[in-house]
This record gives sequence, structure tokens and C-alpha cells, in this order.
Amino acid sequence: MAKRKKRKLEPPGEVKIGVYVCHCGHNIASVVDVERVREYASRLPGVVFARTNMFCCAEPGQAEIQEDISREGINRVLVAACSPRLHETTFRNAVKAGGLNPHFVEMANIREHCSWVHWQERERATEKACELVAMGVAKLRNAFPLEDRRVPVTRRAVVIGGGVSGLKAAFELANMGHPVTLVEKESQLGGKAVELWQNFDNGQPLRCLVEPMITAVSLNPRTRILTSSKVLNLKGFIGNFEVEIRNEKQSIVEKAGCIIVATGYDFFPPRGNPRYPYASLKRVLTTPELESLIRDNFEQRDGAYNESGSLRYSDGSKIKTVAFAQCVGSRESGDSCNRYCSRVCCLVTIKQSTILAKHFGCNVVVFHRDIRVLQKWHEDMYQEARRAGVVFIRAQLGDVRQDGDSLFIIAKNEVENGRLEYHVDMMVLSVGMVPARDSLELKDVLKIPLSDDGFFLESHPKLHPLETSMDGIFLAGACQGPKDFRESIVTGSGAAAKAQCILSKEELLLDGLVASIDTETCIGCGLCARECPYGVIEMVKVEEEVKGKARVITAACKGCGVCAGVCPTGAADTLGFHEESIMAQIEVALEKNAGEKILAFCCNWCSYAGADFAGVSRLEYPPSLRIIRVMCSGRVNERFILKAFELGAGRVLVAGCHPPGDCHYISGNISFKKRYPKIKKKLEKKGYNPDHFTLAWISATEGPQFQKLIQELDSGLRKGK
Ligand code: FES
Repeated sequence: MAKRKKRKLEPPGEVKIGVYVCHCGHNIASVVDVERVREYASRLPGVVFARTNMFCCAEPGQAEIQEDISREGINRVLVAACSPRLHETTFRNAVKAGGLNPHFVEMANIREHCSWVHWQERERATEKACELVAMGVAKLRNAFPLEDRRVPVTRRAVVIGGGVSGLKAAFELANMGHPVTLVEKESQLGGKAVELWQNFDNGQPLRCLVEPMITAVSLNPRTRILTSSKVLNLKGFIGNFEVEIRNEKQSIVEKAGCIIVATGYDFFPPRGNPRYPYASLKRVLTTPELESLIRDNFEQRDGAYNESGSLRYSDGSKIKTVAFAQCVGSRESGDSCNRYCSRVCCLVTIKQSTILAKHFGCNVVVFHRDIRVLQKWHEDMYQEARRAGVVFIRAQLGDVRQDGDSLFIIAKNEVENGRLEYHVDMMVLSVGMVPARDSLELKDVLKIPLSDDGFFLESHPKLHPLETSMDGIFLAGACQGPKDFRESIVTGSGAAAKAQCILSKEELLLDGLVASIDTETCIGCGLCARECPYGVIEMVKVEEEVKGKARVITAACKGCGVCAGVCPTGAADTLGFHEESIMAQIEVALEKNAGEKILAFCCNWCSYAGADFAGVSRLEYPPSLRIIRVMCSGRVNERFILKAFELGAGRVLVAGCHPPGDCHYISGNISFKKRYPKIKKKLEKKGYNPDHFTLAWISATEGPQFQKLIQELDSGLRKGK
């Protein structure tokens, strides 16, 4: 069968580029000869004119560009200035206001990647600036207009989980006027808070806080509550989800514009765990079990504590001496425990031990590694426990044995290094939080990732703590990681506010940076569909073709380009970062002295930002580096690497976010990591030195690491290694 040729993405009409070289005050102009760059740019193919400007991003600079669009008839704009991560949106908006498609602007980063890192080598910095401009112009010559995607919004939210955070989210959204479907797997709302007794912040029964919320949500006519129900399936994308929900009787499909996941947590189960053999002994309780015991003793006293009263087991036997063991299931290595701190266990122990000592006259000792408290007022609680007679000992628990009706404990005092022996009536294991049992199942249904610890993974721990990698799906409460009541409420409100940003609109405007598939050259291998981190490429049957053809669900595509990275034929491509435009940049970057250059493909979110950070920090490295920005390392196709070596590149680098969890597109970095050894083998076969091809992980804050990496690559290059 004759090989089909890929349809080339042709830029429309005659290309007329205006180039603007920014002085950025002294930031660029004190190192780079901007006049020389301007003069060089004006001679590049497709360029109508080139100008310099003191501050392109300032109001007059933007106005000049807009005037040139109408007066000079330019239809593309290249701004040679700072990082596109800083001002790309500014210039996109400027050219849009001037009447151009916003994707007809490109930035050459001659500040962070040039003048700020090569300030001692003015000549080479100027040469590099010229080439960065030429690379940008080459990309622009291949640019074509991208249309924003408009997607209608179903103005209903589905909240999964009826604990405090889910209740709060549903309550807020219903109050904002949005219909909400609240799905709870248990037969009642309230989650763990109705099982526990007292709030540790003020001793108020948790039920007093939760029940009014349950009532308010239940009485709101905008809420639909589905208890004993589970989410079984999810289709669609932001603004247009279809959620299949099933209970014992029926299965329904709820349409929703967004989803809030608030499925909470479970307690760490110590029994049966080889690390805690004593957990199954009689009179060894966990903190939630002790909570019930205290509540039972409390209720027997007609709502009032009795200072002289005793704490009793259900069989009536008295409890006078109690030992707590902290960090059960937490802060341990190995498969049987969790490495994280659950953050609330210390406070639960402080609360419970104070009650035991103060109100039931118990002698209480707490074995801990260190006591951790969250809020400023928690220190007072700790001091109160000590005043009540609770003894806190930094100790390592050794053996725990049954000794008749009591327990014999041996521990090692970590401060005094001595052996401790205690006989107690009860031992309490302060257990941490673990991901809810059904998280794994729900992860597969919602197609959102879990962290290494098994909690749902936020899109970014600092900048987007409530978002997931899937647009329109938000996280609230302890399903994302251990949280106390207060934080669960805060994140419930936060997720509702995020959802409101979607539900308040009739339609959403999404950018046009999406994948596209050329069905003519698609061979139906299905690699793109398998590797797509979001599962938004489907294989569809096409008439006489035996294999299906790949099709992108455009509205749900995030534009990472992983499909284009793995596609063997080039049928899958990414608009805005398409193959021809990247190839054009490679050619220009390696046109002169290719063997002395390091060509790097850096992902927008981490490694490109890491290079920017090196610039901001004025961390010098050799000017041999040329960076091509891609959205994700997963976008890099082996064709780019081969092309670079064919053109004689000295070194080629692919740099992305640290695996596994830092990639902004879930697993794009992993996708490239899998391909890396295969590409090396191919290079070797073709007679290139595979050691000249490097894969590295650089985060946005790792400017020094980026500097070191480039210095090492350059030094190897110069030594001919
Ligand atoms: Fe950086 Fe995927 S976004 S590697």
C-alpha cells in the first residue's frame, strides 16, 4: 500500500511579520546589542520591519503594535523580550485588540534565557538573541490561527461524598442558586463527624456542628440527595459531564457542569498489621474506639461530667491507668504503614488524654516521637493536658504484653535513653488517616490521579490545591490528604467557589491549543489513545478501514501533545506546537555551528520555568543553549531528536517535570521517560552517540540545577566527550 502523505498545516495567506526588540530598560539592552538584533531581524524572511522599544509590555509599546497592525498591515508579531510565561497573555490580548488572531504572536525570550544569564559575554549573548529571534520568526511563519473552543455549561454540580466537606460544598452551591446532586455511599449523611464525639478545638460535640448542615442541605429545594449510592461511570468534560449513579434500586444519569469529590478518609487499621502485633490484645483500643467509649461514659452521666467518676469498659471494669501510642500507621517507611503525618492524631490524643485525666481521674502517659499541633490555640490545649497531669514522654514503644486484665508495656525513653516499664488498664493507639477504601475505584471512574499515598492528587500543591488534572473536577476535604474539621469546611467552601466559576456561565471559553488527528495518515495503531493522560482520544470505526481511526474529543483535550509525541506517523499533532513549527525552529537553531550547541526541549510548566528561574537569579551558564518550548516533555517526538542529530547538534536535551507526580498533564513525563531508552537505541543504530542525548527533570524552582546541567553538558561538549 502506498504510504499516505500527511496533510501539511498550511499557514493562511502571505506572512507579514513585525518584530519588536525590547530594551526592557537596562535589563536586556545593557548586555544585548538590541540595535544589532533589530537589524538582523529585519532581514529575516517574512519580516516586514523590526523596531526597538524601551518597554514593549507597557501601554505605549502595546499601542505601537496595534497601530502597526492597522497601518503597516502586519499579520504576525514577534516580541523579543522577557519570558512568554510572563507576558505571552499580555501580547496575545494586545494583538487580539489590534484585530489579529491571538496565536499570531510569538515571544523570543532574550531576557531570562539570554541577557540575564550571559551578562559577561555580550558578543555571544547578542548572537544568541539574534538566533532566538530567528527561531521565533520561523515558528511564526508556520503559525496558523487557532479558534477558542466554546462549550455550553450544564448548570448543576454533582458532589460525591456527604461528609462535612461535601455538605459544605453542596450547601454553598445551593445557596448560590445552583442545583446540586449529593451522592453518599452510606445510608446517612455526615461522614466520620457523626461517628466521632467531640471537636478538639472547643470540646463541642461534632454532631452539633454537622446536624444543622445536614438539615440545611436536606431542606434546600435545589439539592437532590442520593444516599446508599455510588458513582459508577463518568463521561464528558468540563461543563458537560454525564455521571452515572447507582443505588440498590436504580441507576440514573445526572448531567453536571462540574464535580466535587469529597469522599473523605478512613482510619488506619492497626489490627492484623505485622508492625502492631499488640493491636489485637484485649484492652488495646484505637482513638476512634476510645472516642465512643468516652461518649458512652459521658452519656451515662446525664450530660454532665463527674470529677470523681470512673471511666469503665462496657463490662463495668474500671480504667485507671492509660497509655497512648502516637503515630500508629504514620511516619513510617515500608508498605504496611504511611510515610506522611496525619496531622490531627496528636490533637485527638491531647483532647482525649485531657478528658481522661481531668474528668475521670485517670493516670495517663503518652508515648510520642514529637507532638505536632496545627493552630496557634492548640498549644494552650497541650499545656492544659500537662496541667491535668498527662505525662508526655518521647519514647519508642518496645513490647506490649497481656498481663491478666492489664497490659505490660516496655518502652525506650529517647531523651534519657532509659528503659521504661508500665502496667496499664488500657492502651490507646493513636491511628492516622488513610485514603478512603473506594478511592482507587473512583479514580478509575473519574480518571483523576492519586498521589503516591493514595489520596486524590491536586493539580498543583500550592497554586491549584483544589483542582484536579481534569478540568471541572475539584477536591474538598480529606480525600486529598489528612485534614481536620476546620480545613475540611474551608476546602468545601473553596471547591464550591471554584465550581461557581463554571456554573455561573452559560458557556465556557477554552483556548485552541488542542490535539488534532489527520485521519488520512492515522494508521489506527491506537498508541495515542492508550497514552493520552486524559483518555480523550477514542478509536472510531471508519467505513472500509479494518482498524479504527483516532479521534480527539476536542472540548476535553488539554493540549499536552503526548499523542503527538508517541504518534509514529505524525498524524497526531498539537495545534500551536505543531510538528512543522517545531521542525522549523530546530533547523534555524542549528543552522550555524550546530556541533557547538545544546538543543533543549523544555516543558512549559517546570523545566522552562526552571530556566526562567536561573535567569531571574542571574545564574550564568554557557550561551551554547537553544531552548524550544513545548507544553510537556511528552510532546517531544523521536523525529525531533533524530532531526537535531542529523543537523549535527552537539547535545540534545529533553527536560520535564519531576516524575511521577509533577507533570502538569498527569503522566506526560512518564510517557517520554518510557520512550527515552528506545530513542537512544535508535540513535546508536544510526551512528550517533546516544550519550549526547540527555533526559533531565527540572522543577520551576530548580534554577541552580538547571545552570549546573547546562554547564555539565557544555563542558562535555567542549571536551568532546
Ligand atoms: Fe512538564 Fe509534562 S508538563 S513534563
